[in-house]
Amino acid sequence: MKPVRILFVCLGNICRSPLAEGILRHVAQDDLVDVDSAGTGGWHIGDPPDHRSIAVARKYGIDITGQRGRKVGAGDFEVFDLIFAMDRSNLANLRKLAPPEAQHKLHLFLDYTVGTERDVPDPYYEGPEGFETVYSMLFEGCSLLIGRLEERS
Ligand code: 4NP
Repeated sequence: MKPVRILFVCLGNICRSPLAEGILRHVAQDDLVDVDSAGTGGWHIGDPPDHRSIAVARKYGIDITGQRGRKVGAGDFEVFDLIFAMDRSNLANLRKLAPPEAQHKLHLFLDYTVGTERDVPDPYYEGPEGFETVYSMLFEGCSLLIGRLEERS
């Protein structure tokens, strides 16, 4: 079966979505998913992830240092099968950007995976504990996502 193409989206593409990308790639088997991440904002194009996301990922054995920030583009709505917004504001922005035929690909990440309409909160102005919270939410979501994707095959 072809890998499912998954895009994680947050605001800056330096804190939450690069961490989600790293976690999913780390926990999923190679042929299950193709993962990427992007931001709705363009302030961090070409930047590595935030050092606090790098640190929490490293703590759990995941290297995300090779990732670089990019902005969501029109082509993403064609290329990806599932596009996960980290919070409701990201989802609202994506809904405005995406053409009608791609609206079904857009989901709030924790709604699709855990089944709660909760945001993965923006940790940018938080301390390291904010990044731990984000890590656990993303890890739980990614684990449930993998279970769900494996049921397809
Ligand atoms: P992220 O966090 O959306 O999880 O990457 C942010 C990173 C940067 C900014 C906002 C949120 N910023 O305003 O630069």
